[in-house]
Amino acid sequence: MPENRENYFPGLEGVNIDTTRLSFVDGKQGRLYYCGYTIEDLAAHCTFEEVAYLLFYGELPTSKQLYDFKSLLLAERYLDPHLKSIITLTPKTGHPMAVLQALTAQLAMHDREIADKSLEAKKRKAIRIIAKLPLVVTYFENVRTGMRTMEPRDDLGHAANYLYMLRGKEPTPEEEKVFDTALILHMDHGCNNSTFTCRVVSSTEADIYSAVVAAIGSLSGPLHGGANERVIRMLESIEELDEVEPYINDKVEKKEKIMGFGHRVYKVMDPRAKILRELAEDFVVDDPAMNKCLKKANLFYKVAEERFQKQGRMDIWPNVDFFSGVLYKALGLPRDFFTPVFAISRVVGWVAHHFEQVEDNRIYRPRFIYEGAALGRDFVPMNKR
Ligand code: ACO
Repeated sequence: MPENRENYFPGLEGVNIDTTRLSFVDGKQGRLYYCGYTIEDLAAHCTFEEVAYLLFYGELPTSKQLYDFKSLLLAERYLDPHLKSIITLTPKTGHPMAVLQALTAQLAMHDREIADKSLEAKKRKAIRIIAKLPLVVTYFENVRTGMRTMEPRDDLGHAANYLYMLRGKEPTPEEEKVFDTALILHMDHGCNNSTFTCRVVSSTEADIYSAVVAAIGSLSGPLHGGANERVIRMLESIEELDEVEPYINDKVEKKEKIMGFGHRVYKVMDPRAKILRELAEDFVVDDPAMNKCLKKANLFYKVAEERFQKQGRMDIWPNVDFFSGVLYKALGLPRDFFTPVFAISRVVGWVAHHFEQVEDNRIYRPRFIYEGAALGRDFVPMNKR
């Protein structure tokens, strides 16, 4: 007999699916921790590589450990010529997130260790994925814009090399720090949808590449990582500051969701949004166009908050995707690169979760409540339908 709706948790809200040592999201206080450290401390004092090490090994590295970890990443900072030719043949109209998905599957096919299921080989594959995903999308950008294709540089950090390859020039130390911080902020976030997706695929004992391909697909959705691109499109569609309020009123009246607002876990301001907003405030000072964009974002935030609170909704606040786009725009990134930036950072969390999943695995296999046609209907042959 079909079940009743007693054990029904739409969106799996409030359901704990496993334990983790990686990150903790405190939705009431608006705090985020990686391996016990606050995101504020990590963002202020660490680099991408240090925090990636933390999520990999559970502890911050000594300088020797960091040097060795960076060497592992650097050794994988190259693309096979065959992969480059595949990127060259990829439709230039393709979204970079689709390119990331397709090329991550290609990376798997080029990995000589794909069949090696040992933990050591899996770790090497994880390093390979983290090092190569940024190269895939930056190479795609070089090709689609017709600029010269850039070769990675060994003397640059992970964040700086990304900006260098994407824009064709070395970032300033300030640009590097801002971008590095943004990457740190996006690295892991509890049981978010793409991480859950990664865990679900990992639980079938599929390889780590398959789990990452699936997670990239999940992240691309507008209700998840894809929101950052929508936010900047929304802000750009509002030309003047006095158009902000009517825009929000219209959305509220039509009961449409406002991109970059709301969160399943945070019922106060997302701590990452706070940091990104402060970074943007400091970063865009000298650029009048960006200043205007930030002013619009700040006004939007203020007016939207007032509207939500007037409606008695004290639980809808800007999330990580609201202010990140302003920063990426100021860094000169194309709009459709905002979600890929999220992906090249979150991939660290995905692979770390892959390891937690396989450590003590049980396949995910929930159930549906069947509400279809009566069971045991009379079968009607084709000539009588
Ligand atoms: N604008 C207006 N109303 C909202 C918003 C929003 N952005 N977000 C939530 N609400 C309202 C809903 O209309 C709903 O109202 P109701 O109770 O009257 O029906 C209530 O708040 C709960 O919303 P749900 O969509 O059920 O909340 P859920 O936890 O399922 O979804 C989500 C969370 C997807 C983030 C949602 O807030 C949303 O769609 N936000 C906009 C997209 C976005 O910014 N996504 C990025 C999230 S962060 C990340 O993934 C990286």
